[in-house]
Amino acid sequence: MICVIHAHPYLSRSRSNRALADALRGLDDVELRPLYDLYPDFDIDVEAEQRALLPANLMVWMHPVYWYSVPALLKHWFDKVLAYGWAYGVGGTALHGKHCLWVPTTGGDEQAYAPAGLHSFPFASFAPVIEQTARYCGMKWELPYVVHGADGIGDAELAAHADALPVIDDHDRPDATALRKVARSHGHKTGAASGARFECNLSDGLSRRRRSRRSPSNSTPDRCGRSPGRCCRRRRSGTSGRS
Ligand SMILES: Cc1cc2nc3c(=O)[nH]c(=O)nc-3n(C[C@H](O)[C@H](O)[C@H](O)COP(=O)(O)O)c2cc1C
Repeated sequence: MICVIHAHPYLSRSRSNRALADALRGLDDVELRPLYDLYPDFDIDVEAEQRALLPANLMVWMHPVYWYSVPALLKHWFDKVLAYGWAYGVGGTALHGKHCLWVPTTGGDEQAYAPAGLHSFPFASFAPVIEQTARYCGMKWELPYVVHGADGIGDAELAAHADALPVIDDHDRPDATALRKVARSHGHKTGAASGARFECNLSDGLSRRRRSRRSPSNSTPDRCGRSPGRCCRRRRSGTSGRS
């Protein structure tokens, strides 16, 4: 079972998050929890949230990036739901072994997340806080699915992401096939019909960055403006050779 924690404060004005959420809504074994609809006053029902997570083997954190981080209600959700004695600390094993998939959308495009770009740093630089939150709770961190340039994204590209998300799969993370299996049972196409899939291996990128600090010659930015190993791989649909 998949539990999607979705945090967008203005979903009626959203294009990207709304399209992604619509793609997941109604799929078998997927529970979509729109935090801002459930808790407009920020009064989170901690027990209900924890109950919803227990049967899940994959938890998805999906949201627009706000100030290089998560929207306020998702941060509040972390603070309240990932509680001592439940998610971490003595007896806090409720999430151990579950998989965690991060699905952020950004206003900045890939070029903006580069040393010479508007945001100065690669997007991977902003990921460790989120990743370590999951890891601290004993979850397995999956390859994130990042939608860059969400403000100006074209209809076709957005539709491609909405098609790709439910069938996300990657050779680098053979565990993260849950969404794909679920989608299959609903006859979703595998891979985007058109456009590209963007997958950013942040963990791998960061560990390579650590290595590249020791080896300055390894730090030439690639075409995305990132150092090698931090690049979002851009795949045209149908070229991955996977079903
Ligand atoms: C308060 C606020 C802060 C934002 N901070 C960032 C940011 O730090 N980096 C970024 O790339 N985009 C930022 N954005 C842009 C949003 O991430 C972008 O509008 C969103 O991902 C688009 O998705 P949507 O169509 O679902 O709303 C911010 C937007 C708002 C309203």
